[in-house]
Amino acid sequence: MTENSPTEADFGFRRVPLDEKQGLVDEVFHSVARRYDLMNDLMSGGLHRVWKDTLVTAVNPPKTDRDFRLLDVAGGTGDIAFRVIEAGGAGTHATILDINAEMLAVGRERAEKRGLDYAVTFVEGNAEALPLPDRTFDAYTIAFGIRNVPRIDAALREAYRVLRPGGHFLCLEFSSVDVPALETLYDFYSFNVLPAIGRAVAGDAESYRYLVESIRKFPKPQAFAAMIRDAGFSRVTYTPMTGGIVALHSGWRL
Ligand SMILES: C[S@@+](CC[C@H](N)C(=O)[O-])C[C@H]1O[C@@H](n2cnc3c(N)ncnc32)[C@H](O)[C@@H]1O
Repeated sequence: MTENSPTEADFGFRRVPLDEKQGLVDEVFHSVARRYDLMNDLMSGGLHRVWKDTLVTAVNPPKTDRDFRLLDVAGGTGDIAFRVIEAGGAGTHATILDINAEMLAVGRERAEKRGLDYAVTFVEGNAEALPLPDRTFDAYTIAFGIRNVPRIDAALREAYRVLRPGGHFLCLEFSSVDVPALETLYDFYSFNVLPAIGRAVAGDAESYRYLVESIRKFPKPQAFAAMIRDAGFSRVTYTPMTGGIVALHSGWRL
C-alpha cells in the first residue's frame, strides 16, 4: 500500500477502516433484501421506475436477434437486467452480478416468475474484482450500487476491463440536489420520513439511515465524472434528473 492509499472509507456519516466497509454494507442488504423492491417503490414514490427506464433507454439494446451482452453490476434483485431483456430482442442476454447472495436469491425467484431465466445468468462477486473475462460485454450498468462499493476506482477499472472496445458504461446513482427549494424538502424527507418508513415497514430504521447518509457522502457529479475518465473512459457525460436527486453517468470504452 502506498502512502496515499486510503485506509478508511465512509460508511454513511461514519468513517470506518476501508476493509470493514464491505461487511457493514453486506449486513444492510442482507437485512433489506426481502423488502427491497417494496421499499424502493415506497421510498421513491415510484420514481425509481422512471429513472431506471431512462437508464434502459440509454443502454439501447438491439431489437433484433443480434447478440447483445449486458453486465449489470450490483444488480441485486434484477430490476435493471429484466428491463433491458424486455426492451431488447432475442439476442439480448444479461449477467447479474452482486456480492450479496440474499439479493441474488430474490432476483432468481423474480426471473423465474417472469419467465426471464432463459436470458439471465447470476454471478455472486465483487464489483472491485469481477470474476469475468476481459472485453466481453457490450454494456455495463450499475444502478444505485457504486456508492456502496469501498474502492470505487477499482470498480471503474474493472468496468473498463470487461467491456469490449465500443462498449458503454452507464451508472445511475443518487446525486446532488441543485434546486434550493427542493433541497430543504429533500433533507426533511431523507432524514425524517425515510428512516420512519424503514422502521414502520421493514422494522429497520438503521439500514435506511445508512442508505440516506451514503447518498450524501457520494462524490459530486463532476468529481465522479472525473473518476470515470481516470479509469480510461471517453466521451464521459452525466445527466441530472429530478432536480439532481439522481444522475445518469455515461462513458465509452473506445
Ligand atoms: C441499492 S442496491 C441496488 C440494486 C439494483 N441495482 C437496483 O437498482 O434495484 C445495491 C446493491 O449493491 C450490492 N453491492 C454492494 N457492494 C457491492 C460490491 N462490492 N460488489 C457488487 N455488489 C455490491 C448490494 O448487495 C446491493 O444488492
